[in-house]
Amino acid sequence: MTALLAISDLHIGYEENRRIVEDLRPGDPSDWLLVAGDVSEQVADLEWALSLLSRRFAKVVWAPGNHEMWTHPADAVQLRGEERYHHLVKVCRALGVVTPEDPYPTWTGPGGPVVIVPLFVLYDYTFRTPQAATKDEALALAYARDVVCTDEILLHPEPYASVDAWCAVRVAETERRLAALPPGVPTVLVNHYPLVREPTRVLRHPEFAIWCGTERTADWHLRFNARAAVYGHLHIPRTTWHDGVRFEEVSLGYPREWRPRSTPPGRLRQILPVP
Ligand SMILES: [Fe+2]
Ligand SMILES: [Fe+2]
Repeated sequence: MTALLAISDLHIGYEENRRIVEDLRPGDPSDWLLVAGDVSEQVADLEWALSLLSRRFAKVVWAPGNHEMWTHPADAVQLRGEERYHHLVKVCRALGVVTPEDPYPTWTGPGGPVVIVPLFVLYDYTFRTPQAATKDEALALAYARDVVCTDEILLHPEPYASVDAWCAVRVAETERRLAALPPGVPTVLVNHYPLVREPTRVLRHPEFAIWCGTERTADWHLRFNARAAVYGHLHIPRTTWHDGVRFEEVSLGYPREWRPRSTPPGRLRQILPVP
């Protein structure tokens, strides 16, 4: 049966993960695939993976992760910030992959019709621990505990002054687009980060949550009528429920993370029809 499937955090810089991607196939040629970010730090690798997947699945929808947004010294593409994002959008469009800049497609298969919304809203250091009242205090605490996200070195916010400033712009623009959808239309929201904070409560280092989302999206699953919210980034694959809405963390993660698990790596999560 046709299905809407999802995965994230393919991290194909790891050879074992690349082989898993080579084996990702739809159950049915009419299946759609949602890819919720962190495919690779290298633009050529992102292109390789999405090109392969877009030939196998009827439609591929991509939301960027922080790793795609890094300007990694080893990458042939040294664009930064918004310029880099627009370049990635162009690469995806050439492959027929849907990005957050495109019209939202409607899934009309089983469990539909549902509008599929890929998001790029970043994070803004608001998922702070109670010890930190401000972004600066939260960053100081994270540096003191040595749990600093590599984004601080490799994710450049140009032309914005900071990632949180960029996040505010993205949130405002995205809210405008979402508010223009027909009232009550059901959606599937696809974002690299969880839209609500609760899934970050299980992080081993709570100080890391500041790089995992924004309080500004806390009610989006309700306001925009989500049938499901798909995300990754945490590398903690699971299903949770928030205000009656299903949240699916669909990450593959690093080999050292998936190897000890009893379940086979790289299984696609079924979003619709509701399994
Ligand atoms: Fe990741
Ligand atoms: Fe990530």
